[in-house]
Amino acid sequence: MSNKNPMIIAHRGAKGMAPENTLAAFRLGLSQGCEGIELDVHLTADEVIVVCHDLTLDRTTNGKGLIVEKGLSEIKNYDAGSWFGDDFKGETIPTLDEVFKLVPDTIMINVEVKYSYEGRMERKLVEMLRRSNRLNNVIISSFDHKCVRRIKQMEPEAKIGLLYQSNLLDPTAYAHSFDVEVYSLHPYFQLLDIEDVRKATENGLYVYPYTANEEKDLLQLSDFGVSGIITDFPGRLKALLKDR
Ligand code: G3P
Ligand code: CA
Repeated sequence: MSNKNPMIIAHRGAKGMAPENTLAAFRLGLSQGCEGIELDVHLTADEVIVVCHDLTLDRTTNGKGLIVEKGLSEIKNYDAGSWFGDDFKGETIPTLDEVFKLVPDTIMINVEVKYSYEGRMERKLVEMLRRSNRLNNVIISSFDHKCVRRIKQMEPEAKIGLLYQSNLLDPTAYAHSFDVEVYSLHPYFQLLDIEDVRKATENGLYVYPYTANEEKDLLQLSDFGVSGIITDFPGRLKALLKDR
């Protein structure tokens, strides 16, 4: 068991209590004491990085269609809060730039790249991290491991993380088989065992499982000694860790 509490990472903001991936969800996560924020990114037709989980507007806004086929000004017309509750009416899909302006640089931001857009996402993201001076406190993760590898090749200062949802024989050996430095592992939380965590952390890797919400899971992951926990309920995790 590690004697250090895991970092509290708000999944898509405090997704359990606010519309995911909106400024309202990020503000709520911060007010509940999160130390990191996980979010998802896509590219608009005019090549702006926006924060949304899905490729399309359909599920989380009153718009329809692929984000990549719309310009930012059109996307900003759509309501990304009402589907969750009337209190959130008027929230819009934020740009990554807006999130960077809102979130203090003491908070780690985990940017999950959902789609590469033929390499354009990697280029835009690197450009933006350099411009905004965020290389140090942003982790770029993806299920597309070639994508994060390209980012690291483009910008050696970037921190990259490997997302995975099926069991790897030896996650640490896999991460070390890359020809670039991997910063962190982001496994589906139910795949993890204490041995995986021990080996990874002893070998310099951070371990950020997703997405655990039940108290028993949060406590078990904490006992495993993970580096952080990605959760929809950062306030719940904060309260659980208070007396540990
Ligand atoms: O980054 C962890 C987690 O968010 C990955 O799954 O579908 O919630 O983006 P998903
Ligand atoms: Ca995500």
